Amino acid sequence: MKTYKYPLLDSQSQIFENVKKYFLEAESLPPACYKDTEFYNAEIKNIFLKSWLFVGREEKLPCSLSYFVIDVLGESVIITKNADGEIKAFHNFCRHRGARLMDGHGVTKQFRCPYHNWGYSHNGDLIGAPDMKKTENFCMKDNGLVKIKIENWAGFLFINFDSDPAPLLEHLGDLPKTLEKYDLIKMLCIKETHHRVACNWKLYTEVDMEDYHAPTVHPLSIGRQVFPRQPSRGEYETTFYENPKTVSVVPTDEGPVFPHIEGLSGKAATGTYFTMIYPSFFLVTTLDSCWWINKTPINETNSAVDVGYCFPKSTVAREDFEEVSRRYIERWDRVIREDNNICERHQASINSRWCLPGRLSFHEEVVNAMNKWVLERVMPKEVVSDV
Ligand code: FES
Ligand SMILES: [Fe+2]
Repeated sequence: MKTYKYPLLDSQSQIFENVKKYFLEAESLPPACYKDTEFYNAEIKNIFLKSWLFVGREEKLPCSLSYFVIDVLGESVIITKNADGEIKAFHNFCRHRGARLMDGHGVTKQFRCPYHNWGYSHNGDLIGAPDMKKTENFCMKDNGLVKIKIENWAGFLFINFDSDPAPLLEHLGDLPKTLEKYDLIKMLCIKETHHRVACNWKLYTEVDMEDYHAPTVHPLSIGRQVFPRQPSRGEYETTFYENPKTVSVVPTDEGPVFPHIEGLSGKAATGTYFTMIYPSFFLVTTLDSCWWINKTPINETNSAVDVGYCFPKSTVAREDFEEVSRRYIERWDRVIREDNNICERHQASINSRWCLPGRLSFHEEVVNAMNKWVLERVMPKEVVSDV
């Protein structure tokens, strides 16, 4: 008899078999996967601490020596642009005795510790350490900030806590090619909102990537949309909704909309891509704009949900931008509220001891694909004993 490292996973193995089937024969993940501590800890260890995690758009660093602080998985991280314009990421703790260095965002000559006044450059080097001359064998060079890997794709910044991850572009596979016509590097994020939603992070990735719920959860803000799964090569899923109109305003809104993104052509000019970069970064690219919804686990049943709305810089420069964009922002805010509500409602009932997995509609192919992706990484590969 095989036994595995995680007793829960072993005891649930029959139910996992049903998730692994072809999606029209499969079941959703067992409810335990959305609340069990052991499963959650395995996700953090095997997925989040090894993955590229979105931390913000590049325009959050408007000039050299600017920085912002972000909390990711309970870790405080400084993201900064050095004097040469290179983007860096560091753990936000001092190398003296570990005090937290920075808060918020801004422009600063150096990162100064508020405790004993050690100072660090934007390259993470220790450049000031008062009254340390008598300390034996103390070497400034050995006491720089602890670096975190950071990479930039089209203005989207991703960090990786793993010290030796595969490059971001390898993770993204052919996605940059699929989305190249949107010229995302020229986008400007004009609004961010931040939410704490009482649901497991996977429930939110699932609601993002299926259109089944749209007519019931978003009857007026979205209505019926059918966006089938598209082929993908890389750590992402994408779907495509063929429609000649932007999806950034409500379907019944006949008011003026912005022109298409400059140079938009081919398939991208005929509809909208809904994309999920694993593990939890959702990006919608439509004819005239884009937005993202990033989920970060807080614990088993709570997630940080960070949202950003973007337009091409040329659109933001238009005289009518404020007036026209108001309707876009209203539509986006409303859909987020609707999804936050349904995810919390979903989690509350999944918390029942008697809740069961369920069968999927043809609208939910990506839900099943994402479930399998998680299981492949969380299920123990290592057989402890084979008696
Ligand atoms: S903890 Fe930072 S200078 Fe002492
Ligand atoms: Fe939704």
